[in-house]
Parts: sequence; structure tokens; C-alpha cells
Amino acid sequence: MTAERLPVDKRGSNDKGIDPALALILDRHWRGETSAPVALMQLLIETEDAGAVAKAVANAAQGQAGGVKRDTAELERLIAANGAGCERIAAMLRADMDSAKPARTVEEGIAFCERLFDWSVQQSEEASVALYSLGNPELLSAATDEIVKQLHEWGAISPSTALLDIGCGIGRLLTALAPRVRTAAGIDVSLEMVKAARRRCAGLANVSVVKGSGAGLEEFEDGAFDTAIAVDSFPYLRQSGYELVERFFAESARVLTPGGRLVILNYSYSGDDAADTQEVRILAAASGYEVLIAGERPFALWDGLAFFLIKGTA
Ligand SMILES: C[S@@+](CC[C@H](N)C(=O)[O-])C[C@H]1O[C@@H](n2cnc3c(N)ncnc32)[C@H](O)[C@@H]1O
Repeated sequence: MTAERLPVDKRGSNDKGIDPALALILDRHWRGETSAPVALMQLLIETEDAGAVAKAVANAAQGQAGGVKRDTAELERLIAANGAGCERIAAMLRADMDSAKPARTVEEGIAFCERLFDWSVQQSEEASVALYSLGNPELLSAATDEIVKQLHEWGAISPSTALLDIGCGIGRLLTALAPRVRTAAGIDVSLEMVKAARRRCAGLANVSVVKGSGAGLEEFEDGAFDTAIAVDSFPYLRQSGYELVERFFAESARVLTPGGRLVILNYSYSGDDAADTQEVRILAAASGYEVLIAGERPFALWDGLAFFLIKGTA
């Protein structure tokens, strides 16, 4: 459920009256490193308590940082408009279904993801794919729009594109991209996600959604796609095991045409951009990809880390 489980550095700002971990999250937001929805998501992950989040923001508004008054208007507006969504997300986090622990085996990791996403999509479809949506369809749609715009700017999609969405979740990208590509196929390990995606994509003649085994892309033929995207799904593959990530790199290369594109938005939730970038470069080289973009954060609303790879033509 894209919990973005970033380790929070407890040596953050010394705002009086605010937990240092929460102060650090707020500082990052005020430095312009995170949007208000992402900051709220991080506060919810840290506290698992919507009331505590509202209190931390209110305290910050009262100028606790060495008497410096912070502009909390946007955060307060979002909290007021998404109270029920924030409560639901806090309850989802308290249910402790998610875990940042690496899986002991790939099979266990895949089974864990299947259980987690079958459950979370039934709590909130929007939050299950993006906690920073705060469960709000409009916020999720704004975040989806910025991804679609970026895919266009990179030249990753066009009306002739056969697109694959790896870990498609509820199909928010399939529905947004369907009118802009020739065909769009989604695959996901969670049957409940697949059901939600099929419902949302009903009536879109060029879209198909399949339930995958979680172990690869065996449903698809060699060279079937021009572009593959994986939005916030690699962190779960990575958590299931490096071996599974290697398999998905090789499999994506197999199902792409020569010169085909692979877009990975978030590779892991390690919080270590340099390590993620290095790992992606190694995996890309091993599967015959050229790396065009590695480790950039091109979005305003979402803090996703972007990788744009091209399959070699040799
Ligand atoms: C955070 S959600 C993101 C969903 C979608 N990409 C989006 O951005 O709206 C991660 C998705 O990856 C899927 N997933 C996790 N492990 C997977 C695997 N081994 N194979 C296929 N899908 C997987 C989950 O079921 C879930 O739907």
C-alpha cells in the first residue's frame, strides 16, 4: 500500500513540543522536499494516529520552532478535507498487516504481498495503491496525471504503444493511459486488486488485466510490448528478494520489443537513493538495458524516484 517506509532520522529539528521524528518530516516539507500529501502520509506512518498528526501540525502552526511561525495552511486544509481518509489510513497502519522486513524466501514474499494487497484494497482502493492519496480519489487522480504527463514528456507512450503495467493495482494508470496508447495490459499478484482493476477498466476495449503468479510475466509472449511501467511495485518485489527483482528485469526485457522502454517509479523503500540507483544500473546491464534516467524525482505531488531504461537493439 505504498507505505514508503522511510527510516525517520530522530536527530531532526528541535521544535519544542513536537516529537523530533515528526518535526523532521515537517521540516522536509517546509524545505520543499515533499508535498503536503506526502508529508501527511509520513506523519501518519510515524504516528499511526490521525489525531496526533493534526496536533503536531497545530503545534507547528503555533510557532514552536524557535518562535518561527510555519505556514501550515495547506496541511490543515488537507487534514480538514480528508479527516475520514486519514483515520482510515491510521487504522490500516495500526492493523500491522504491512511490514518492512525482507522476506525469508521469494515464495513467502510473494504470498505476503498477495495477502497484504488483497486486504488493503478492501479497506480503501485509493489508499491501497498510494497512501499519500489520503484515500481521496481526486488527490490520487492528480498524482496519476503527473505520472501520465511525465511518461509523455519522456516519449514513453504514444498512440501506437502496446503498454504493460507491472503490479497494476486498481488499474488507475491503465484507465488514465488507455485513451493514449494502442493497448494496455495490467498484471498483478493480488486477485482483489485484479477484480478492482477489471471493474474500473470495464468498457475500455483496449485494456486487459490478468492475475499473475507473482513470480514473473509468463502470461506474455516475447516482444509483446513497447513500454512496461512499474509504479510503486518494485519495492514489493525487492522486499520479496533480490532474486525476484532479477527475474522481473529479465522477464520485462523478454516481453519488450528491441528499443522498448521500462519505467520504474520507486525501486525500493530503503530511502537510500544512491544504493537504489547503483542496484538498478547493475540489474539493467545484466538484462541488456541502457539507463537513460536514474534516481530523479520528477514529480511535484509524489516523491517517487524515477528510472527510465531502454532495451538494447543488439
Ligand atoms: C503500491 S501498489 C501500486 C499499484 C499501482 N502500480 C499503482 O501505482 O496504482 C503495489 C502493487 O504491486 C503488486 N505486487 C506486489 N508484488 C507483486 C508481484 N510479485 N507480482 C505482481 N504484482 C505484485 C501489489 O499487489 C500491488 O497491487
